[in-house]
Amino acid sequence: MANKNNKQRKSEKYFSDNTMWGFVHRSFTKSMGYTEEDIRKPVIGICNTFSELNKCHSHFNELVEYVKRGVWQAGGVPMEFPTISIGEPYVKPTTMLLRNLMAMDTEEMMRAHPIDGVVLIGGCDKTVPAQLMAAASVNIPAIVLTGGPMLNGRLNGENLGACTDCYRFTLEHKAGNLTDNELSEVENSICRSDGHCMVMGTASTMASIAEGLGMALPGCAAIPAVDSRRRHMSEMTGKQIVKLVVNDIKPRDIMTKEAIENAIKVTMASGGSTNGIIHIIAIAQRLGMKLPLDTFDEISAKTPFLLNVRPSGEYQMEEYFEAGGVPALMKELVPLLHGDCLTVTGKTVKENLDGVSVKDPKVIYKLENPIEKDGGIVVLKGNLAPNGALIKKTAVSEKFKRHKGKAVVFHSLQDLHNRIDDPNLDVDEDSVLVLQNVGPKGAPGMPEVGQIPIPQKLLEKGVRDMVRISDGRISGTSYGTLVVHAAPEAAIGGPLAFVQDGDEIEIDLQAHRLHLRVNEEELNERKGNWTMPKQHYDRGYGLLFEERVLQADLGCDFDFLLPKELRPKK
Ligand code: FES
Ligand code: MG
Repeated sequence: MANKNNKQRKSEKYFSDNTMWGFVHRSFTKSMGYTEEDIRKPVIGICNTFSELNKCHSHFNELVEYVKRGVWQAGGVPMEFPTISIGEPYVKPTTMLLRNLMAMDTEEMMRAHPIDGVVLIGGCDKTVPAQLMAAASVNIPAIVLTGGPMLNGRLNGENLGACTDCYRFTLEHKAGNLTDNELSEVENSICRSDGHCMVMGTASTMASIAEGLGMALPGCAAIPAVDSRRRHMSEMTGKQIVKLVVNDIKPRDIMTKEAIENAIKVTMASGGSTNGIIHIIAIAQRLGMKLPLDTFDEISAKTPFLLNVRPSGEYQMEEYFEAGGVPALMKELVPLLHGDCLTVTGKTVKENLDGVSVKDPKVIYKLENPIEKDGGIVVLKGNLAPNGALIKKTAVSEKFKRHKGKAVVFHSLQDLHNRIDDPNLDVDEDSVLVLQNVGPKGAPGMPEVGQIPIPQKLLEKGVRDMVRISDGRISGTSYGTLVVHAAPEAAIGGPLAFVQDGDEIEIDLQAHRLHLRVNEEELNERKGNWTMPKQHYDRGYGLLFEERVLQADLGCDFDFLLPKELRPKK
């Protein structure tokens, strides 16, 4: 069975080969129980990222069985393969260090094998972007199946959300408002099923982006991991990839510039994670598109925030699913979307949304009556971040939307840990906490440390939010006035490196401004006295990362993974 364009499939080349190698391919494949009939079918790779080191993927072996059913039913032959799997809770120093490694692993596995199409099963934060980056580069028929969110945590009649409540409860415990026993009860109740974090953190954001792009079947993102309908979704995904192979529909037919814009709109309307921005940029660049931060700012300004899901709203993914999930949100967004984009269903966005409606307007607000009239993420620029910084506006305290305060500077994570709770630290609730050297090269890997802890002495006074600025990232489940992704980063001599204690910093969300009130002469002098921090690695993947990673505004991909024409000049 050739594809509709009468091109010979890759697996056909392998199995119809008349040389000794064709003999070897057939013989070795049959040894695994595949018959002569099987090896003439489209071969579908199933990228299974199951790992007991990745909690969010613990149920993938079961999902794979359902995908395989679908593949067989549609006339394909499934072949499962592993890649590395990255889970947020364990990986040190940070999962972001390994996203590109996973993207490379996935890409090379897809290239190296006789697979005609691939089902990419991901879930935890960095896995779906890594897989989409690979699919964008390889461009063979591909479909994303996400693992789904955990069920709501439950305790004392209340819903709990990982990891928004991980921060909240550990903070209250630190402030003395929660006993050890109470904290351990939360610990036991918050994560009670398979699946990824069940708020609109990075995992749910990326699952929504996969759907917004048209790379996952409609409705896939929000179905709870353990709901029977996720198994149905897995089977449907298996069936659909065979159709994509037969019809020769490839990622680049789907992930067009317009589809990228749709995905950004979905992110903005959902109060999606700031990490999503880095990943969308990385995916777009793999497709040969430049995607400046200004595009996000422009789209954000025109896209109303509709989704009442934590950390920016009240509900969680389970309620989002019941309200209709991403298709229902997209239905509201239709007037703003590019409806003609092709998707993995073989139909357009608009066609997919036929008959879809919002089932709970408390969770998904109406376009004409949004929670806020613009999107969740604002790009800030100024002399402190000439290439931009991000802030999740929906998580900012009202009083900090425009603020001036004196800097309290920490030079590294270690410095932060050493001094943040020091009773003699010169800090008050109006201070601006600055953390340097936690960017892509600085920490390295740009860890999620931008939610700088509130100093103990202020915590005890009841302070729960402060303006905090860094070149690091935050978890999608974080909340507070957190300016992150400042670019260029401090470790390569970005202006954040030159901030000193007591400097006045101005932040103005409406004006998109982040300004250090120190004159240029003084800044130049500080620059002259600055020395670059020494590298963290002298060998191995860490060294490759440090030498080749791009800045946050360029998606933190490796320069050599971009198409040649997009690579920044050295
Ligand atoms: Fe995997 Fe939160 S730890 S999504
Ligand atoms: Mg996360």
